[in-house]
Amino acid sequence: MLSRRLPPDRLPNRLTQAINLLRREHQPFIDLTESNPTRAGFTYPTDLLNDFSHVEALQYDPKPFGLACAREAIARDYGRRGITVDPSRIVLTTSTSESYSWLFKLLCNAGDHVLAPRPSYPLFDYLTKLEAVHAKPYDLDYDRRWTINMASLEKAVTPQTRALVVVSPNNPTGSFITREEHLQLMKFCKSHDLVLIADEVFVDYPLDERKERATDLALQETALACSLGGLSKSIGLPQAKLGWMLLGGPPSLCATALDALELIADSYLSVSTSVQIATPNLLTRGALIRQEIHSRIQGNLKTLYHEVSQQPSCQALVVEGGWYAVIRVPATQREEDLVLDLLQREHVLVYPGYFFDFSNEAYLVISLLPPPEVLNDALPRLLTVASS
Ligand SMILES: Cc1ncc(COP(=O)(O)O)c(C=O)c1O
Repeated sequence: MLSRRLPPDRLPNRLTQAINLLRREHQPFIDLTESNPTRAGFTYPTDLLNDFSHVEALQYDPKPFGLACAREAIARDYGRRGITVDPSRIVLTTSTSESYSWLFKLLCNAGDHVLAPRPSYPLFDYLTKLEAVHAKPYDLDYDRRWTINMASLEKAVTPQTRALVVVSPNNPTGSFITREEHLQLMKFCKSHDLVLIADEVFVDYPLDERKERATDLALQETALACSLGGLSKSIGLPQAKLGWMLLGGPPSLCATALDALELIADSYLSVSTSVQIATPNLLTRGALIRQEIHSRIQGNLKTLYHEVSQQPSCQALVVEGGWYAVIRVPATQREEDLVLDLLQREHVLVYPGYFFDFSNEAYLVISLLPPPEVLNDALPRLLTVASS
């Protein structure tokens, strides 16, 4: 009855089963996978969402790419990085996931390929399969920082490849694309006739002072490219359900892509009028939430580097940006067993590296969002179990 776009087996894995058991038994645990900013103790002004009930939202004026007030506000917001953006190149969606879905509809026939980084965001598998597209991995290598393995990119590309996905900073490796890599990637896209899809949802959270990082990756003239952003990360408001795509590249290709995207967007008209009316104010007032999240993750990363440096058998990998950190731990048991052990013995939940498709074991991934006291409590327990 069901399509092959869905995974045949949707049973909970061992980790989900263990979490469900703890919840059923009302046993508390420390969740170092918490990625929902609205559950991480940040201060949201209580009247932040008042504009959702603005009287203007009573008028329905459907616009496939979104209302001008919201698109212009997003274009202005790029000014924080000193960039001028044309609002007519901005397309609103309800989320980054929806942006991916529309881009795959735009670019891919059933069975086509897109290149996606490994390790990276686990949802790619579903987002591609749900559009009848194959995600083909290319590798990121770690040697004091993560870099793109260009040879693996060349190896992964086929005549059926339509797009190259990059995530910068990446989830969970926290690595930014450098300017040098950006140039190489654009040449690669041009020579293979690919579109660059640049997921930059964490761009507002740099965590070191590197000068060579590239941002706003769509803004170049070599090949068609699309940069993805959204309120869920930029102001910690996933429930507002607003994402956007910024198109860049040769003007004639942008015009063709926008023309076709309009048909897709017009078929769904999915973004609510309320959030669009609220967007100008949300972007202004959300700066405070962004700052609070940023200083939390900066502090937590410092704590992590310090605590892990006390435990010689473990290593905190360098994080350049984003909300996650990776800890390399001794591979004395399978990651899944280690994570279950940690949950059952110490009631601390972390992600196993294999969720993100690391090429070898053993890695643990944690969110940097939890309150500092939670991290301070959990880290020594995590490191004791991981190094035993
Ligand atoms: C790299 C990356 N892209 C996209 C998303 C999803 O963003 P949205 O909430 O806008 O769909 C996430 C969520 O964690 C993410 O990590």
